[in-house]
Amino acid sequence: MNPRLAFATLLSLLPSALWADAPNWQAKMNSLGNTVSELLPELVSKQGNPETIEKGAKALSELSHDLKVGHDKQKLVPAADNDPTIGFLADQFSTQTRRAYSAIKQGQIEYGKDLLRSVTSYCIACHARHDNGPAFTAVPSTEKVNRLSKEEKAALYVALRQFDKGLEQYQQLVADPELLKKRPFDWERYLRQALAIAVRVKNDPKLASTLIATALQSPDLPVFQQTKLTQWQKAVDSWKKEPALKVNTEVGLTLEMRRLFRDANMGQQRMLDDHSAEIQFLRASGAAHDVLRVARDPKTVAEALMVAGKSYESLSNPLFWPMEEFFYEACIRQLPHSNLAQECYSSYVKSVYFGYTGSAGTDIPEDVRKLLSRLGALAAPPRPKPKG
Ligand code: HEC
Repeated sequence: MNPRLAFATLLSLLPSALWADAPNWQAKMNSLGNTVSELLPELVSKQGNPETIEKGAKALSELSHDLKVGHDKQKLVPAADNDPTIGFLADQFSTQTRRAYSAIKQGQIEYGKDLLRSVTSYCIACHARHDNGPAFTAVPSTEKVNRLSKEEKAALYVALRQFDKGLEQYQQLVADPELLKKRPFDWERYLRQALAIAVRVKNDPKLASTLIATALQSPDLPVFQQTKLTQWQKAVDSWKKEPALKVNTEVGLTLEMRRLFRDANMGQQRMLDDHSAEIQFLRASGAAHDVLRVARDPKTVAEALMVAGKSYESLSNPLFWPMEEFFYEACIRQLPHSNLAQECYSSYVKSVYFGYTGSAGTDIPEDVRKLLSRLGALAAPPRPKPKG
């Protein structure tokens, strides 16, 4: 074993005040916040401190494991939030951090760092479901944060639920004509991430409108971008005219979700991912999470899972790490042998085929094919009861 690593292992056995055990959800989140604020600057720095990185990776993998197990056992759950997305993300988050920690322990430091850098997407996917929840109050050390690039700062702030500070960074990225010229796809990604926060977390059409206006003012904006942004601006303008909604019941939220999802599908979006109905799908996905948070009726839950799946598939926003297959599968399991299950299954199959298709054709691994056939049987219409 390399001596540096041996030392790091020794260090990680010592008790740490920073990453001490946390008894409830909020405390766990605060520990996650502390860990990520310490860890992220180290991950991007060339001279990242290996001991800090290993210790942080260990803390993350333990915290996320606790989160998953606690959630599975219904002992550790966020207040008044039944959304099944939480359990799914807790599970994935735990798998990913464990993989990172084990890579680092085995000396594959760079690979482990790569994995760790992407963990903020789990924080964000969970937090940016809707506008609920408190922010992280502790400010990470400015000296360390200053070393981060704008996009890394944005990801850190958003992961810590300091959404305003994250938006500030995104706004600067979107207003940067050099970025648009040199890395047009990154530029568009940052704009869409900022919009996701403005629409889903902030629920603020004015803010969305400002972001789109900033982007539209970019010199040398390609025509296809201009067309799309104008469509987004139109969607935001009509949102501004809607009366503010004040429902909090399962039925009321479901009606609103249906209305928004209908709107999204009536838009001009022809291809699954041309993003022209971005604003509408963002709103529909947020409404689906609102329903999932409170819904008890199995049919309503299945419908919200279907809406979430289709919306996430259209959005395919890297900020919300691809989740549609989870929603389709959960929808089938929620209401087997129903029309909804069949609709979800059909979308599920398409998404899987698409995912395994490359230049050499479609090649679906055996275990995935087995899962497909199990889900297909679950979704199929009920068989007539045998006579006798
Ligand atoms: C599985 C879902 C999920 C994941 C993953 C997740 N969070 Fe959270 N987090 C929540 C929820 C839900 C709340 C809101 C708590 C509430 O409202 O009860 C929250 C709240 C927080 C808070 C505010 C705590 C407070 O009340 O003071 C911080 C800080 C936080 N999370 C940090 C993080 C960080 C950093 C990560 C990633 C390393 C992360 N969380 C990953 C679900 C998640």
